[in-house]
Amino acid sequence: MPDTGLSLLGIETSCDETAAAVVTGGKRILSNIIRTQIDIHAEYGGVVPEIASREHIRSLLPVIEAALEEAGIEAGNLAAVAVTQTPGLIGSLLVGLAAAKGAALALGIPLVAVDHLEAHIYAARLARPELDYPYLCLLASGGHTSLVWTESPLRYRTIGETVDDAAGEAFDKVASLLELGLPGGPAVERRARQGDPKRSPFPRPKVKAGDHRFSFSGLKTAVLYRVRGQDGRGEITLTEDEISDVCAGFQAAVVDSLVDHTTRAATELGARRVAIGGGVAANGPLREALSAAGSRNGFDLFAPPLSLCTDNAAMIAALGYHKLQAGEIAPLDVDAIP
Ligand code: KG4
Ligand code: ZN
Repeated sequence: MPDTGLSLLGIETSCDETAAAVVTGGKRILSNIIRTQIDIHAEYGGVVPEIASREHIRSLLPVIEAALEEAGIEAGNLAAVAVTQTPGLIGSLLVGLAAAKGAALALGIPLVAVDHLEAHIYAARLARPELDYPYLCLLASGGHTSLVWTESPLRYRTIGETVDDAAGEAFDKVASLLELGLPGGPAVERRARQGDPKRSPFPRPKVKAGDHRFSFSGLKTAVLYRVRGQDGRGEITLTEDEISDVCAGFQAAVVDSLVDHTTRAATELGARRVAIGGGVAANGPLREALSAAGSRNGFDLFAPPLSLCTDNAAMIAALGYHKLQAGEIAPLDVDAIP
């Protein structure tokens, strides 16, 4: 028996990744299986909720079996099953939740309902257990962008969030506008590498002291006008090089905004440790810029590996362990919250 703590099965189906993982003691990842549906949704230019639920139904049991097999653990030796309860696409969440309830009932083990965003915040600590509390976390995903003061695995305070689009949503919209395909963030990052942000600069929103709210919709509209003219409806007449420059300029503006706000909040709160989480935390220039800002401003950056930034079930199983330890067990009639 390699494991010394309690092993949890984690299940994540909130959007378009079907994922299952086994994590021991909230720390040791025994397996972390992710099956993405992105190629199926790419044909439609975005995630289609009905198709996502159907694909989760098709993939989830094989993904769970793969997670158990890779972990080398019998289902009967699991201590609990943790599942994403919120937020996400309702149909997708329900598939994961129904499977988790079934497993908990059949195995006679507790069900733990996990908040996907709290799990993203915990991912940095799962990757680097030496990350001590408290820490400031920049959470930047497809649906959320916020700064969260984190005091323990289960205690958080939101310091500021976006007033309009999430950072990931802006990446996705710009990718769609430039017809770069899905997923948008990595596509824009790749094109930005071939471009020069100085050839296509975008304005930065003004930031006031004490104001930690993000805003990305103005930037998104500025990209739209540059690409499709002042009515936002023209044909794209940019050359391939100019498209790369727009990607570079847009990405630089998003990174500056995220880094400025995070650095300001870290300084005001006296944070010595800053973590990042969520899909946008996989962005290379953001990771580099925040790490450099940390060196200049006296905080250490804890950036999880890319596989723990984007959606995964290891973070669900890991946070689930702490909820289980705290006695936060969900009833079998618990509902998904979209
Ligand atoms: O956390 P996540 O996988 O799913 C949600 O909970 O939303 O985040 C997905 C978001 C998408 O908007 C995606 O375009 C963005 O994260 N993303 C990135 C990168 N990888 C994923 N954005 C910028 N650069 C990346 N490398
Ligand atoms: Zn996510």
